[in-house]
Amino acid sequence: MAYKTKEWRNEMRVTVDYNYMMSKSLGDEGIKDSELRAVKESAERAFEYVRLNRGRDDLFMGWTELPYNQDAIVADILETAKKVRKKFKYFVVLGIGGSALGPIMVFNALKHLHYNELSPQKRNGPKFYVEDNVDPVRMQALLDVIEPEKTCFNVISKSGATSETMTQYLIIADILKSKGVNLPENIIFTTDASRGNLIKIDESFGGAFKKFVLPDGVGGRFSELCPVGLLPAAVLGIDIKGMLAGAAYMDGLCSKPNISKNPALACAVLQYITMKQGKNINVLMPYSDNLKLMADWYCQLWAESLGKAVDYEGKKVNAGTTPVKSLGVTDQHSQVQLYIEGPFDKVITFISVEKYACEMPIAHGCEDIPDVGFLGGHTMQELIQAENKATAYALMRAGRMNYTIKMPAVNEFTLGQLMYLLELQTAYTGALLNINTFNQPGVENGKKATFALLGKKGYEAQKREMDSAPALDGKYIV
Ligand code: PA5
Repeated sequence: MAYKTKEWRNEMRVTVDYNYMMSKSLGDEGIKDSELRAVKESAERAFEYVRLNRGRDDLFMGWTELPYNQDAIVADILETAKKVRKKFKYFVVLGIGGSALGPIMVFNALKHLHYNELSPQKRNGPKFYVEDNVDPVRMQALLDVIEPEKTCFNVISKSGATSETMTQYLIIADILKSKGVNLPENIIFTTDASRGNLIKIDESFGGAFKKFVLPDGVGGRFSELCPVGLLPAAVLGIDIKGMLAGAAYMDGLCSKPNISKNPALACAVLQYITMKQGKNINVLMPYSDNLKLMADWYCQLWAESLGKAVDYEGKKVNAGTTPVKSLGVTDQHSQVQLYIEGPFDKVITFISVEKYACEMPIAHGCEDIPDVGFLGGHTMQELIQAENKATAYALMRAGRMNYTIKMPAVNEFTLGQLMYLLELQTAYTGALLNINTFNQPGVENGKKATFALLGKKGYEAQKREMDSAPALDGKYIV
């Protein structure tokens, strides 16, 4: 069944304006139409590559189908979320990377910015935390504010072998046991269907844990629209069907191979052209506190997907640009000076919001002080939007490339669109670069080095090699 009315969906359409990337606005610093024409065929090939491989688990392209193939899973998630909301005072995600950044981003985007501090009536759901690290101070801080026996812990790990997540699990499991809690009562696993250590733990409990599947063909950073993100969102009362409908809508908007008709392909081509020009920094700057953590989520998506040593032919390419998170207007008073006058090495992507979730009139006062008085009678929405426009304009006047993703509002439907847009953009860019977008050998190497350092069986050779490698041994200490 279609989500809301056609008119509403059109009103909520997320669009991309790239006028300030082009030479018509930027002169010599901008992209010429001829440069767009020059990559037309490569863009079509990238589009075809993604289209032809849709849903392929072996290529980790399963995420493309998530908006369409989860009816039964969504029903199970909603049912589980209902029980969790009824029974628990707190909901805690244990996970890291792709298993944590999505849930916290969606929470930040769609719930009250001070959700946990609201009264239970206003909050209308359990308090929510995501443990995205193994900093002991953070773990202690969590333990200081929750009551473990009244908490539902969602352990999210595809492999069940990630040291950080399993450390969090071990600590929590021990606390729960010490309080006489039967672990499956308070813990839900989101993991691989049949492999991995969470499955082994579940088996040792006779299959008593509630489990959700992180599908085979879906990598961590592309997993927000599967149970990884959908369960936490549903527990928070977020309309997960709306998020999936938004993703499907964006998929529909990206069904053509030409950049004037496909916003994700347009963004990918802009990033690709500027990458080739040596612009190494890719800034995402939402003008919305609700979208602040979208930049964190995007940084992982972009960095882990495109930072690759070799291409599909095995040629050394050291691909990728460095994603940077920024927040409007806050970073106008911090980073924007560098963006406007520093090296010509950046592309800025703004995310603009046309209608904020609430309005805040600016009171009159200080009429005799012109520097202040002019603000009275306006609204905060007007101010933030004016500053967004002014920054894009100032960048353009300084010859700095920037484009804007426009969101009519921040809601489930537009957020689903935005996520899918950025995922597709990343997939197209990877295809343009002829690299494997969906593996993460660098991350895996770091995981293995940690295993070796902490004495995991089977990693003795790596430990010996690390012991003989240059170490931080104090020779150059100051
Ligand atoms: O995007 C990725 O694949 C990674 O960030 C993983 O999500 C992260 O390393 C956690 O892995 P796992 O789900 O196996 O615990």
